Amino acid sequence: MNFDLKTLPLSTAAAEKCDLLIVLVPEGFKPAADALSTLVAHALKQGDLEAKPGKSLSLYNAPAVASRRLVLAGAGNGSAKAVRQALLACASALKGPQIKRAALVFAGAIGPDAVCAAVLAVADGSYVYTATKSKAEAPALARVTVGVPDAAAVREGFARGTGVAAGVEFAREWANRPANHATPTLLANAAKTLAKAPNIQCKVHGPAEVARLGMGSFMAVARGSEEPLRFIELHYNGAAKSVPPVVLVGKGITFDTGGISIKPAAEMDEMKFDMGGAASVLGTFRALAELKPAINVLGLIPACENMPDGRAVKPGDVVTTMNGLTVEVLNTDAEGRLVLCDALTYAARFKPQALVDIATLTGACVIALGNLRSGLFATDDALAAKLQAAGEAALDPCWRMPLDDEYAEGLKSNFADMGNVGGRAGGSITAAKFLQRFVGDTPWAHLDIAGTAWKSGAAKGGTGRPVGLLVHYLLDVARGAAAGAAGAAPAAARRRAADASTPAPAAKAAKPVRAKTVRSAA
Ligand code: BES
Ligand code: MN
Ligand code: ZN
Repeated sequence: MNFDLKTLPLSTAAAEKCDLLIVLVPEGFKPAADALSTLVAHALKQGDLEAKPGKSLSLYNAPAVASRRLVLAGAGNGSAKAVRQALLACASALKGPQIKRAALVFAGAIGPDAVCAAVLAVADGSYVYTATKSKAEAPALARVTVGVPDAAAVREGFARGTGVAAGVEFAREWANRPANHATPTLLANAAKTLAKAPNIQCKVHGPAEVARLGMGSFMAVARGSEEPLRFIELHYNGAAKSVPPVVLVGKGITFDTGGISIKPAAEMDEMKFDMGGAASVLGTFRALAELKPAINVLGLIPACENMPDGRAVKPGDVVTTMNGLTVEVLNTDAEGRLVLCDALTYAARFKPQALVDIATLTGACVIALGNLRSGLFATDDALAAKLQAAGEAALDPCWRMPLDDEYAEGLKSNFADMGNVGGRAGGSITAAKFLQRFVGDTPWAHLDIAGTAWKSGAAKGGTGRPVGLLVHYLLDVARGAAAGAAGAAPAAARRRAADASTPAPAAKAAKPVRAKTVRSAA
């Protein structure tokens, strides 16, 4: 889908040629003298429209409006959250088969974060999964114009929104594809397509290389499957080689049957989403390709299936991890930590400034936090604070969980250095404690996205989370680095760095910015 941003007061929005015009009406709306303003003011006065987000009024052939279809939507206080809610409520209108071109106009002041949220909400609401449907029609919506009172003032938020939207869509698409259409090999191919961008390189390791690296734990999980494992390495180079990278590690279990400790049948299909962490890493790289921040990022994805088989790892088997620690596999369904631990050990080679893993790791995390916030575990308070703040800014929130050493007690084993499970109590924390054994002194955080990576029920599908959180975090790291390099007071420099990422004022006024997000994932 193509997005473009332009300065568009309500008075001229009425003349905008499109198939659907959405007017976002904030609380305290101040009408001008034009026809559209008068119409909105009248609807508010009559009580036919409320400015609350989620409330809307649909009109047809409204006088003085070029677009046949017009939706007036309440935008509350105009915050990012309110704007998102307002536009998600318009999702069905945006998905109409005749809607090829839509325009979105803000009937009041609007900040960059709200514009970012608007772009994301429209992209989100108009996404349709088609990859494995024989008769599915691709969505009609091809172009969305975002009209604001002052385009120059929100350009950064607009660019951020289109970049994150491309990443979220990529992550959703790969999460949604069934396990037989998203094997470790196909995931690796998707990563290779990302490396077509000039700043991205991709390296894919197969079973022989992974054996050579000594990743005995990762290999043990993959043993039960006919599908060969893949260890995917993505490099984004936006800064000098000497700048240490941020390393992202995504759990890439393309299907989790549980292995010999097999899962019950009910909802087992949802375990195709067990590569949600991997999908979020791929999506983040998709966004980096668009946004080109001045940082270095390394993405690592251990990808394989967890299957029961004559060759599969068995409960009680002891495996040797890449860092030499031995693990008693007490439950083959606790496989995520077994593939992640070797990837975390490998990550240390790159001397990361921060190491963040993202995993649909535990059902226990879903019990603890539900589907709203991802679980955040961190050894470093500054890193935790940055990730937490990025989650709030991106409307992709997380919540910090504890890592007291006492929680590791359950991981003791009589036959190896550690077991791969603790008890049922505090299951998401013992899983994090397991991972912590493999990160050494590197500032490390772990995001348990078991409750947030996908939705169940009628709306079953990948959410693309936490791409928004990760991209906001990485943009923040890039801003911090720019501030450091400038040697200026952080806040002022940060503001300047943000300004520097937008084109010069003269260029801004000349033509609207176009941004394209790609519909097909690979
Ligand atoms: N992929 C699952 C975690 C999961 C389960 C995510 C349900 C979302 C919904 C993971 O591999 C797993 O099976 N974890 C076990 C760990 C247990 C055996 C210690 C779990 O959570 O039950
Ligand atoms: Mn499992
Ligand atoms: Zn799993």
